[in-house]
Amino acid sequence: MRRKLVAGNWKMHGGLAENQALLEALKSALNGLQGAGMAVCAPYPYLAQLQSELAATDLAWGAQNVSEHAKGAFTGEVSTSMLKDFGCTYVIVGHSERRSLYGESDETVAKKFMAAQAAGLIPILCVGETLAEREGGVTEQVVGRQLDAVVHAAGVDALAKAVVAYEPVWAIGTGKTATPEQAQAVHAYIRGKISGLNKAVADGLVIQYGGSVKAANAAELFSQPDIDGGLIGGASLIADEFIAICKAAA
Ligand code: PGA
Repeated sequence: MRRKLVAGNWKMHGGLAENQALLEALKSALNGLQGAGMAVCAPYPYLAQLQSELAATDLAWGAQNVSEHAKGAFTGEVSTSMLKDFGCTYVIVGHSERRSLYGESDETVAKKFMAAQAAGLIPILCVGETLAEREGGVTEQVVGRQLDAVVHAAGVDALAKAVVAYEPVWAIGTGKTATPEQAQAVHAYIRGKISGLNKAVADGLVIQYGGSVKAANAAELFSQPDIDGGLIGGASLIADEFIAICKAAA
């Protein structure tokens, strides 16, 4: 049985005081919750706050992006070893906002994925199609291409120490969630594709769904056989919502 994982992606939201209140609420409601992994991913300046607030709790934490380079003259960038220094567990790579707004290619995402693993971090690899791609009937080609870039660069076995997040771009922050059936179909495609290369890796692979997950739809999504939790944006900023989503996964 795969263990579900719920991860909050705060994106560029929050502040010290706001985060503190949210973290207090999450800790008191979720610490000790059995049966699901839980994590929050904050902007870089707040990672130290996560480190101190979440130490010795059942909540892990992560970053939302990282450099593909190990070190050097890359002004403004943060390396995987810097994240590791703070005790970081996860890093999101290839989020659609990074791909579309910052021009990250499949190859760059694959490099970030490998850099994360080389430092002992667990990459959460985001894949997903746009609305035009879905309507054009090329969802599987797009998701397959995004996965192939990583598999070709890192090898299929690398997915044994990674998480995949299927996030249809049209569902992110739009309030328009994929139906459980739509999401399950793509999750099954992803697992089937990986299974063709290594069945054991595919069977153990945690594939999260992301895109307008909220307390009201989490349980139905998570009941699908290939949906192993969620990557939660907007609803992860609201304590009661995120708590209910974690409980739905547990
Ligand atoms: P959302 O974002 O839950 O606000 O749709 C999900 C994500 O981008 O990870």
